[in-house]
Amino acid sequence: MRRPFVTVTYAQSLNGSLAAAPGRPLALSGPQSLAFTHQLRAAHAAILVGVNTVLSDDPQLTVRHASGPNPQPIVLDSRLRCPLSARLLRHPTHTLWLATTEAAPAERQAALEAAGARVIRLPADSHGHVALPALLDWLGAQGVASLMVEGGAQTITAFLEQRLTDRLIVTLAPRLVGGLNAIAAPLDLTLHNVRCRMLGEDVIVEAEIDHRQTAV
Ligand SMILES: NC(=O)c1ccc[n+]([C@@H]2O[C@H](COP(=O)([O-])OP(=O)(O)OC[C@H]3O[C@@H](n4cnc5c(N)ncnc54)[C@H](OP(=O)(O)O)[C@@H]3O)[C@@H](O)[C@H]2O)c1
Repeated sequence: MRRPFVTVTYAQSLNGSLAAAPGRPLALSGPQSLAFTHQLRAAHAAILVGVNTVLSDDPQLTVRHASGPNPQPIVLDSRLRCPLSARLLRHPTHTLWLATTEAAPAERQAALEAAGARVIRLPADSHGHVALPALLDWLGAQGVASLMVEGGAQTITAFLEQRLTDRLIVTLAPRLVGGLNAIAAPLDLTLHNVRCRMLGEDVIVEAEIDHRQTAV
């Protein structure tokens, strides 16, 4: 089955920060780019974040600042650290999918399933994280045609580093913030078919990634 088309998208300060520090959320997008991000959500079949983003921001991942359907929420969570209080477990239209590994405790699976989640056990990569190619294969088999990856830094980096990203859309907010850099590893990728536009005071950069380039 065909893997979903993957869009990695996030908001960063001009100097590349996603947040002031891990675990300290930062609202970077202006109202127009926030609406654009929600339009993007509505245009994707599924949306994915890493579990640290759930622990830090408790996001809803729904479409609220635009009209359109909510994407299927997915969390990368190798050890099932997602809290039972997470708002994603009370999603208005979808059952939360937790992508995990065989290392996750069975009792956490039972508790999260009782709270309404669907737990998907997948192979682990060499770091013990959810193997992303296996996840994309599984999503393809479910008929998920498009996936929006919204963060945080480790998740963005993993999708870029493993060359699993088809399109990158970055909101550049006119701020300088020392903090958590969006790219959490040595990486040097060349973008092509680059388009830029202003939305309010933010710059939206959209590009494709040349997968023939070698990640450092
Ligand atoms: N500005 C923005 O657009 C934006 C968007 C989202 C988040 N954020 C910010 O980003 C920060 C969180 O980012 P973060 O880098 O700490 O964490 P993250 O990317 O949200 O989550 C990373 C965690 O996901 C789990 N994971 C499982 N499989 C993985 C895989 N294959 N690759 C990567 N991670 C995998 C790992 O935990 P386990 O080992 O436990 O599985 C890993 O530690 C927060 O401060 C949040 O506010 C900003």
